[in-house]
Amino acid sequence: MSQPNNRVFSGVQPTGNLHLGNYLGAIRKFVALQESHECIYCVVDLHAITQPFSVWGGPAELANNTREVTAAFIASGIDPARHIVFNQSQVVEHAELAWIFNCVARMGWLNRMTQFKEKAGKDRENASVGLFAYPTLMAADILVYRATHVPVGDDQKQHLELTRDIAAKFNNDFAESIARLQLDTDYFPLTDPVIEGPATRVMSLRDGTKKMSKSDASDLSRINLTDSADDIAKKIRKAKTDPEPLPATLEELAGRPEAENLVGLYAALAEIDKASVIEQFAGEPFSVFKPALADLAVEKLAPINAEMRRLLDNPVEIDAILADGAARARVIARETMQEVRRIVGFLGD
Ligand code: TYM
Repeated sequence: MSQPNNRVFSGVQPTGNLHLGNYLGAIRKFVALQESHECIYCVVDLHAITQPFSVWGGPAELANNTREVTAAFIASGIDPARHIVFNQSQVVEHAELAWIFNCVARMGWLNRMTQFKEKAGKDRENASVGLFAYPTLMAADILVYRATHVPVGDDQKQHLELTRDIAAKFNNDFAESIARLQLDTDYFPLTDPVIEGPATRVMSLRDGTKKMSKSDASDLSRINLTDSADDIAKKIRKAKTDPEPLPATLEELAGRPEAENLVGLYAALAEIDKASVIEQFAGEPFSVFKPALADLAVEKLAPINAEMRRLLDNPVEIDAILADGAARARVIARETMQEVRRIVGFLGD
């Protein structure tokens, strides 16, 4: 198989509470890349189960959460006919390649992963083995398609660096075998992260020093993609701020995390840079800025919300999209795994 040079892969976990950070940091970029790249977008259900039932809702919720992420992809503008949209567990090759990568990655590399430390918390002995090995599965997701570009939010940067380390070590460890089989020397590409724009790290509306997160106990901390217009306006009205008006320069936002976050949100939603937002609102109090931000957020999110609801009323349509995407993803993933099995030296087809 020849090496693709413009293939995008990215994934979102079906753990509920899909929020504005997921949309601006990731999903909206997925949409933009469709014009220039061949894209594969995955609802990563194998990743979801690395955490306790309380986080992903258990078996009764998983199917609904998977459909919700799929609906968000499509409602945001991803075209499942031109590109591939599927859920991870339908393509077993992800898990197969992850096992091989478990044998390539080193304990020391995984021990350095900050997300594991955050998610496992104090009770590390009680974290699942899957949560520890999570980044090797993520590397497999990307590399089973030999994807070259991965759009994500800032919090995934370390995982993508590890993906590059795994690809490089595999290419190096198996170099002789790869050469003997006359495959590309750089069999697995060193994937480029795509982490750009004013919203790579959207912060909590209740605390500008904490990331907006699906698992925050306070629903006021995040804008969910399923929130009504009233909820969105209420959450922005209640968002924490400081007493100062907006400054005249970007530099003066330093040390004001909540103000900086809201300016970043406005910029991302309006698709302009932060400096232009400051220019427009310099000297204005939050009593003026917040309603403008709320109107903008509702304007951009209401159509997505409506389309998500329509799709979620038609689960059969969503399931058909995932089945079709999985069938097309499998063709690529199988081809890679056939080569990888030969590279590693496994007997059989
Ligand atoms: P997940 O499901 O936590 O988040 C999905 C995407 O949303 C981004 N994101 C944010 N961006 C900006 N501000 C925020 N507050 C914010 N919160 C989340 C994430 O960076 C991500 O891009 N490990 C991944 C899923 C995954 C994956 C992959 C991604 C599995 N395999 C392969 C890329 C390639 C995750 O947990 O994302």
